[in-house]
Amino acid sequence: MLVSAKEMLNKARDGKYAVGQFNINNLEWTKSILTVAEELKSPVILGVSEGAGKYMTGFKTIVGMVNGMLEEMKITVPVALHLDHGTFEGAQKCIRAGFSSIMFDGSHYPIDENIEKTKILVDACNVLGVSIEAEVGSIGGEEDGVVGLGECADPKECKAIADLGVTMLAAGIGNIHGKYPANWPGLSFETLEAVKKEVGDMPLVLHGGTGIPADMIKKAISLGVAKINVNTECQLSFAEATRKYIEEGKDQQGKGFDPRKLLAPGAEAIKATVREKMELFGSVGKA
Ligand code: 13P
Repeated sequence: MLVSAKEMLNKARDGKYAVGQFNINNLEWTKSILTVAEELKSPVILGVSEGAGKYMTGFKTIVGMVNGMLEEMKITVPVALHLDHGTFEGAQKCIRAGFSSIMFDGSHYPIDENIEKTKILVDACNVLGVSIEAEVGSIGGEEDGVVGLGECADPKECKAIADLGVTMLAAGIGNIHGKYPANWPGLSFETLEAVKKEVGDMPLVLHGGTGIPADMIKKAISLGVAKINVNTECQLSFAEATRKYIEEGKDQQGKGFDPRKLLAPGAEAIKATVREKMELFGSVGKA
């Protein structure tokens, strides 16, 4: 059964590790992530952007697929199904469709409007036991059409949003979606510390997990980050393994064109990436 992310994140915060959010695109992605989470006895969050939701024909399809897999694969670890960078309307749709967690990204609104909209969703989520993530500042770069300038969060604004009763807070600290440019100055730990001071115990979320060096990840966790989002890195590993399979002509040998064979190396590559991240985040054995 899907669970809210609240308990797993509070435990991660107290135990000084982070739960990974891995974004899904299709059945292979979902199956690979769930397989590794179960194997490593790690809690996990499946992230769904609105673009990925549309691609998979809608949020209800995803809820059906994930619930089916939890049962058929006999998954015992805590799994949350979470909307990533949701709009106000998208968040409401996901709540109705049966997601156990949502993110409302109101970071592009003036702060008062972000607060107002977040509050409405917090009230709805509280009634239903759904966890909710809010965002202040912005994550740089682009993800599925959501573009951010990467400005660092204002700690006072973070407090105002945290006080609404959100489950977790994404604060921009110089993190970027996608690959980091060579001249990236690194995470702003100064901002992270200032935010933490204002929001106290609130589990913090680090977006843009792809390509952040291990020492920065560890420091971020020590400063209150309890959830780390990874998307691009699984896409890169999938693409690389699939390209290799085709370049080696394996799709033309025997029944190598069978989609189950063609997609297998990519699915294995996603598993390796998820395994590596769960080990780095410290969530192994924490289910
Ligand atoms: P990356 O694609 O950079 O890993 O970021 C994922 C993310 O933050 C999802 O919201």
